[in-house]
Amino acid sequence: MNPNLIPLIIYLHLLSSFLTLSPPSYAAPLALNCGSKDGGNDADNRKWESDSKYLVAGGKSVSSTALTQDPSLSSDVPYMTTRIFTGETSYKFDVNSTSRYILRLHFYPSDYPNFNVSNSYSVVTTNSITLLKNFSAFITAEALSQAYLIKEFSLAAFNSDSITVTFKPADKSFAFVNGIELITEPELFDDQAGLVGVAENSGTIDGVSSNMQNMFRLNVGGQYIPPTNDSGGLMRSWYDDTPYIFGAGTISHIANVTIDYQELPEATAPAEVYRTARSQGPDPNINKQSNVTWLFPVDANFTYLVRFHFCEYQIDKINQRVFEIYLNNETAFATADIIAWTGGKGIPTRKDYAIYVGDKSGDEELWVTLHTNIDLKPEFYDILLNGLEVFKISDSKSNLAGKNPVLSEMMQKQLIANREAYDPNAIQIKHVVGGAMGGAATIGVAMVLLFVIRRRKRVSGSDSGVTSWLPVYGNLTSKSTMSGKSQCGSNLSSDAVCNCRYFSLVEIKSATNNFEEGNVIGVGGFGKVYKGIIDGNMKVAIKRSNPSSEQGVNEFVTEIEMLSKLRHRHLVSLIGFCEEGNEMVLVYDYMGKGTLREHLYKGNKITLSWKQRLDILVGAAKGLHYLHTGAKYTIIHRDVKTTNILCDDNWVAKVSDFGLSKTGPNLNQNHVSTVVKGSFGYLDPEYFRRQQLTEKSDVYSFGVVLFEVLCARPALNPNLPKEQVSLADFALQSARRGTLEEMVDPHLKGMIKPDSFKKFTDCSLRCLADHGMERPSMGDVLWTLEFVLKQETKGEEMRNEKSGSSGGGTVEVPIQSSDMIAMHMNTLNLDDDDDEYDYDSDDDGNAFSQIVDPKGR
Ligand SMILES: *[C@@H]1O[C@H](CO)[C@@H](O)[C@H](O)[C@H]1NC(C)=O
Ligand SMILES: *[C@@H]1O[C@H](CO)[C@@H](O)[C@H](O)[C@H]1NC(C)=O
Ligand SMILES: *[C@@H]1O[C@H](CO)[C@@H](O)[C@H](O)[C@H]1NC(C)=O
Ligand SMILES: *[C@@H]1O[C@H](CO)[C@@H](O)[C@H](O)[C@H]1NC(C)=O
Ligand SMILES: *[C@@H]1O[C@H](CO)[C@@H](O)[C@H](O)[C@H]1NC(C)=O
Ligand SMILES: *[C@@H]1O[C@H](CO)[C@@H](O)[C@H](O)[C@H]1NC(C)=O
Ligand SMILES: *[C@@H]1O[C@H](CO)[C@@H](O)[C@H](O)[C@H]1NC(C)=O
Ligand SMILES: *[C@@H]1O[C@H](CO)[C@@H](O)[C@H](O)[C@H]1NC(C)=O
Repeated sequence: MNPNLIPLIIYLHLLSSFLTLSPPSYAAPLALNCGSKDGGNDADNRKWESDSKYLVAGGKSVSSTALTQDPSLSSDVPYMTTRIFTGETSYKFDVNSTSRYILRLHFYPSDYPNFNVSNSYSVVTTNSITLLKNFSAFITAEALSQAYLIKEFSLAAFNSDSITVTFKPADKSFAFVNGIELITEPELFDDQAGLVGVAENSGTIDGVSSNMQNMFRLNVGGQYIPPTNDSGGLMRSWYDDTPYIFGAGTISHIANVTIDYQELPEATAPAEVYRTARSQGPDPNINKQSNVTWLFPVDANFTYLVRFHFCEYQIDKINQRVFEIYLNNETAFATADIIAWTGGKGIPTRKDYAIYVGDKSGDEELWVTLHTNIDLKPEFYDILLNGLEVFKISDSKSNLAGKNPVLSEMMQKQLIANREAYDPNAIQIKHVVGGAMGGAATIGVAMVLLFVIRRRKRVSGSDSGVTSWLPVYGNLTSKSTMSGKSQCGSNLSSDAVCNCRYFSLVEIKSATNNFEEGNVIGVGGFGKVYKGIIDGNMKVAIKRSNPSSEQGVNEFVTEIEMLSKLRHRHLVSLIGFCEEGNEMVLVYDYMGKGTLREHLYKGNKITLSWKQRLDILVGAAKGLHYLHTGAKYTIIHRDVKTTNILCDDNWVAKVSDFGLSKTGPNLNQNHVSTVVKGSFGYLDPEYFRRQQLTEKSDVYSFGVVLFEVLCARPALNPNLPKEQVSLADFALQSARRGTLEEMVDPHLKGMIKPDSFKKFTDCSLRCLADHGMERPSMGDVLWTLEFVLKQETKGEEMRNEKSGSSGGGTVEVPIQSSDMIAMHMNTLNLDDDDDEYDYDSDDDGNAFSQIVDPKGR
């Protein structure tokens, strides 16, 4: 033997023993920016690496870069680059054979050079499990009206040292992926989750050995939690639950408590999830008669594991709050008592129940229902939920793939219409239908949307008569909640149902009697607003654009974008729209009581009591608070004023006119940011100075509204002495001089309790602070208003009792009976010519006017 080789042999020997002895190096946690050379950092400053070193040799793939960047993309990385597979190709990751893993796939079905993404169908498998089959990211994204998609899987330990993820294009097609994440998941599942709907104790699901897909993950009663704020480094997103709530009558809470995890792994859910919750309202009688339901669209013929996250912080004794849990109307647990499970406040727990969702047609829904347990007579008839996750479990063939969603005829028609209307090159489609709120954040709305397409089909039996495709939630009247009637919207003519649909011009013309002048109820820069009747008897407000208004087009689009995404009891709902030829028309719920302003001083025929005014303000504040916090991105209204706060027939206040709204993160890239928009008298001075828009600009405007309501005078009144022209300035001056009381509407004199007055005006003045930083948040304002209202209601109740009024009927605003008649008359007189002189404080030429605005400009 050549002695020179000896050192080499020793070296090789050492090397091999070293290799076997040293702990294997695992890939996870891993974030791959597929198709990029060097990786990059995303918007949260998280590092993504290139995917090339994990590709298994022999595959067929190329890297590519998207041609267009959708404004709703949360970050360039990992979406703008992609790996395109023209033949079967695998990635291989070294893993710990005894660990669970989270595998997350990101898809951005955009335009890539030489590849038409609408032709991409793929199969994605990992080891022996089928994750996606005949999967079209394009169709899925389109149906969800999102720019990008994230599919998340939780994979049981494979007993193998590697995970292979294989992409296989369909015949003559290609597959692609933009990002891959692989993260070690601590054991978070039980081996025995009760299976609901089978004979008692006979079925359990072994979560430990199951492969799953996460379908929904909600921070119930709270807001979106981004991956970087997740616990355990699992990089999960937790979404707002409001899009899934079926029916009304719930309230959300934020608790100021330290979460004590005790035995529970912190990775189960971040403390933020446990600190927020949803429960029912304060009235036990209503609670006893109503269910709180979350409704999810799911793929049929799979078993689902539903995980409930609970944490009590209001009570601390057993049998104070006990409720039943149902899955698809089957009892999962009848006596849920969080304190009995956890032993105290601030201690979280989670409970898993599984249910099989059948394969009969129409079984594509999962109902999660909580109802207070009446039999056990708990101290409080109420429910509580902090977080909710839904996982799909792989079937007996190790398959997790569902079908591609089906676009309804309605939506197809609309996509085509939008394509033609707004951009000959069809690039803007996603702006119109998807757009503003940001891909993943809209997943909820979109899923519900898709769901409703299916539901409606079933309800109506055919596509023809029923063209609505937007979610049904959040806008239901209290009445329907109380009677516990089905709220699924089969009764389409009811205004309790919000649906967004595409109208033909013929329908619109017939609704308004060919735009008859007699039906005009308002005029603005955008055009005229007509009263109309659709579906035989449903009153609507129809806003018709002035074809010459170019600005109108943008605002038309903004309004559709915003309103078709946002559904809230205190936001005006868009029923649908029409654009045909030169006509652009928006159709809204009819707001029977008109604008807040006309009940303050613009020819008001009745005087709203202090409590009624507070009620309306609380509603408007809720609407704005929802805009600011309810979505992933803050939405800034930009034009808060008393003519944009409308009241429906039941005096429920709704914020309207989203033509100028802007969403948070895109603010700086926004093409009109240099133009200060809004209405004089309400404009935030800081925004005016620095042209920097924040949600605190809305708070400022709302401060002006608060004073307008208190003083019953316009925000600007040039007929008054100079120092009084601007209400905001006058209020600040009066406060300094201590003469605020002199400004108060004479009708309210003596009706406001001194401490309420102080709380109200303190808050209003803080809203008017010169610097946004010093102003309260909309949430704080809401809290104060509710507090003041409660104080005033205490007095009112006593008065009502004395006068023997039962107050049983109306839920919203118990209105004094003398006012009732006056209000009724007012409704009848709504389209009277209302020609009194009044300085038009919103006459700033902005294109979008209110929905109901007495004419006479
Ligand atoms: C592999 O995972 C198991 C279970 O999660 C863990 O106990 C073990 O320490 C891991 N092994 C290594 C080398 O990290
Ligand atoms: C992509 O393919 C679809 C369906 O095959 C077709 O309708 C569309 O025009 C194609 N787009 C481009 C840009 O070629
Ligand atoms: C995420 O965490 C950071 C730091 O703890 C915090 O400042 C931020 O408000 C959190 N974001 C959300 C949306 O919770
Ligand atoms: C939370 O509670 C602590 C102690 O009770 C208090 O100091 C703090 O101000 C509270 N925070 C909020 C936001 O209410
Ligand atoms: C549950 O019951 C409601 C009526 O209470 C019904 O509308 C709904 O379809 C049921 N859901 C399922 C999945 O059976
Ligand atoms: C609540 O839901 C349960 C289960 O779906 C159902 O049996 C019950 O009738 C519902 N109650 C009301 C008031 O809707
Ligand atoms: C339901 O899933 C099973 C596999 O678990 C499959 O054999 C069966 O064909 C499916 N039924 C339908 C209607 O798709
Ligand atoms: C694949 O998906 C497309 C779109 O949903 C559908 O038209 C087609 O029939 C599917 N193909 C198979 C083999 O399932």
